[in-house]
Amino acid sequence: MVRDHGARHRSRRTVSSAAPVPEPAARGTSRRRFLAAVAAGGIAGLVTGCDSDPPGYDTATGTDPMQQVVSFTGPHQAGIATPAPAHLVFTAFDLTIRGRAALRALMRRWTDAIAQLTTGRSTESDTGETASSGPAALTITAGVGPTLFDDRFALTDRRPTALRPLPSFRGERIDPAISGGDLMVQACAEDPMVALHAVRQLTRLADGAARVRWTQRGFGASAAARAHQTPRNLFGQKDGTSNPAVGTPTFDSAVWLPDNTYPAWLRGGSYAVIRKIRMNLGAWDAIPQAEQERAVGRSKDTGAPLSGGGERTAPDFATAGSNGRPVIDVRSHVRLAHPAFNRGAAMLRRGYSYDDGLDASTGEAEAGLFFIAYVADLNRQFIPIQRRLADNDRLAAFTTHISSSVFAVLPGVHDGSYLGQPLLV
Ligand code: HEM
Repeated sequence: MVRDHGARHRSRRTVSSAAPVPEPAARGTSRRRFLAAVAAGGIAGLVTGCDSDPPGYDTATGTDPMQQVVSFTGPHQAGIATPAPAHLVFTAFDLTIRGRAALRALMRRWTDAIAQLTTGRSTESDTGETASSGPAALTITAGVGPTLFDDRFALTDRRPTALRPLPSFRGERIDPAISGGDLMVQACAEDPMVALHAVRQLTRLADGAARVRWTQRGFGASAAARAHQTPRNLFGQKDGTSNPAVGTPTFDSAVWLPDNTYPAWLRGGSYAVIRKIRMNLGAWDAIPQAEQERAVGRSKDTGAPLSGGGERTAPDFATAGSNGRPVIDVRSHVRLAHPAFNRGAAMLRRGYSYDDGLDASTGEAEAGLFFIAYVADLNRQFIPIQRRLADNDRLAAFTTHISSSVFAVLPGVHDGSYLGQPLLV
């Protein structure tokens, strides 16, 4: 169970450090919205999305990313609405135990360890590779996969109906060895060693009760780079621009399971969709920039929609060019994925780039996007949008989905409780 580790994370979720709580650049609407978000729900996060600054810690305040503490307790788990730090280690575990009591014991051990690690402390019998590193904004986000609800833990009647493997989509080549799992652990930190260390400690603390099924490292932009612009993906595009802004009703309804959710243990949780998407960098680099921009529907340099304006300007899908056709192509990625064409459905995309080196058989980079989306409703948000993209998206000619996983993300923990307690009591 979470023990009291000091005032820094005693009450609501905060991002803190030896320096004051970091804020986005103190300008206009984004600063006001940030403060309103913190006041409203204790949300630790910088604002992302339309008419806000790019996510990132405010380097202007001199805040050291290595000293950032992101509170582990709160109504929701950290690592979703909190800013995405530069490094990811995502690990899926399979359980080797049976019985709910054994699973409870594991979750208690993990909860205690996460409370230690996220404040930069060592765990019992720590392996020591991050001694003196600082917490580095470490967040750990845990979830449970569909397979947890078989007969091993007497949880069959607690499985949310939506929690099942995703259907198949056109063009995908899913490798089961890097898909699924009983449990997910998403570790994010400003330092790769801190994220790796956290997963290593949790694996050791599992003490044979869970073994790693698959793991993936990912990277994004550094804190300093994020303070200046929206991070770019490996196709060179600004990625994340139109994510719903933290602290808005759109964000809350897109991401969190509401209070009337059944089963009740999921209230305050979310669903995570994980897709490892290989990006064919060679083929992409070989087409002219105008073609690249047509495929996505936005300018590569500025991130602005092809209908005009700046990065934060809303796309106008009706604007036609001199040939009479819409300037944002009907098969462009942003048009197909936009809420206007998906019954209002939005999602939080919080993925990381990956680079697994060269594929020896092709000589091509084995690299792409480790796509992570958080949604409240898989059947209304991710599944129909992905179906439209798989069938029509111009970008899809340059990408291949090679893994597929879905997890129910547990609600947050409070002092004195442990991860998954509402599910496991
Ligand atoms: C390698 C694969 C992908 C790449 C390179 C990619 C890239 C992008 C880019 C550059 C944007 C525009 C900037 C932004 O708003 O973030 C975007 C928007 C978006 N993407 Fe993707 N994406 C990929 C896969 C996916 C998948 C699998 C989904 C969901 C099924 C998805 C859903 C969205 C959504 C919902 C938007 C916002 C649309 C809007 O409201 O304007 N993307 N993506």
